[in-house]
Amino acid sequence: MSSTTATKPARPNATNGAAQQQAAPANLTAHWNDDPGDKPLIYVNGKLLPKRDAVVSVYDHGLLYGDGVFEGIRIYRGRIFKCGQHLERLYRCAEQILLKIPVSPKEMEQIMRDTIAANGLQEGYIRLVVTRGFGTLGLDPRRCPVAGVICIADQIRLYSEESYKSGMKVIVAQRPKTPVACLDPRIKSLNYLNNILAKCEAIDAGCDEAIMLSTDGFVTECTGDNIFIIKNGTLYTTPSVCGQSGLLEGVTRRFVMETLAKECNIPVVEKLMRLDEVLGADELFLTGTAAEIIAVHSVGDFKISDGEGPITAKLRQRFRQIVTSDHVPED
Ligand SMILES: Cc1ncc(COP(=O)(O)O)c(C=O)c1O
Repeated sequence: MSSTTATKPARPNATNGAAQQQAAPANLTAHWNDDPGDKPLIYVNGKLLPKRDAVVSVYDHGLLYGDGVFEGIRIYRGRIFKCGQHLERLYRCAEQILLKIPVSPKEMEQIMRDTIAANGLQEGYIRLVVTRGFGTLGLDPRRCPVAGVICIADQIRLYSEESYKSGMKVIVAQRPKTPVACLDPRIKSLNYLNNILAKCEAIDAGCDEAIMLSTDGFVTECTGDNIFIIKNGTLYTTPSVCGQSGLLEGVTRRFVMETLAKECNIPVVEKLMRLDEVLGADELFLTGTAAEIIAVHSVGDFKISDGEGPITAKLRQRFRQIVTSDHVPED
């Protein structure tokens, strides 16, 4: 699939994409409730505590070593969007790092519902965290007999309303994605430094997101979002293993592939892609629980589209219809 057009400027690549230093401020408006007081009430190891008291031990291996797993989940209309899939991923990821979650999936679901109710939320965001727990000053997870469970339910707004229409600019990070052989990116672990350092490259370039490549040059995903392109009316997304690396199998990605695209009659193909193919797209968008569906208008100085393209707009509109309806899916 050729992506060359005479009018488009030079393409960024893995070695120069991140080098564009721009003064423009990022349009990031993410905010957690930054009041250090009573609200929200946060579930920590069996208790609902005011925010100021919701703390974990400095001996918790989640803090000491990033040893644990987490989930980010949306609350729409008082319902937990794709609750079943998020819980399934949490327990699968915990198993992959040999971490036993001390409550059952049903109990975890109840913890989420209790935390939402305690804070009276109809719209919001849940952060579930399971840490290896309280241990000693060594790596040995056997010294952490009980995993810690945290559930935060709060507000989140990642991007401005305007940026959903105009689209966003991303860069290509110089830092490659951790290879599967080192730490499988399908595991949503508390160890996000690889992503955070790529995010810092994006921030330095005045952007909010960065495309990450595998060590062998395949497009994987962004630092906190999956990637889709549209070419000649077909939707393409990267597979969970891309060369030596891969990606987090996003719940939003799956919802786009299995529900939204189907309902909008758009064919979907999972495909290994090089950067050239992504840059040759008619439309490019990202998906994630916090971001939902957001268009990308440029990759570095390389323009993809003028704002949000028509197919991205159609998918996003359908997404918004569903999450503002009485039928928010909890499966
Ligand atoms: C690295 C990464 N990729 C993709 C996603 C999107 O996944 P989901 O749609 O489940 O939020 C996330 C979300 O946190 C992420 O951290």
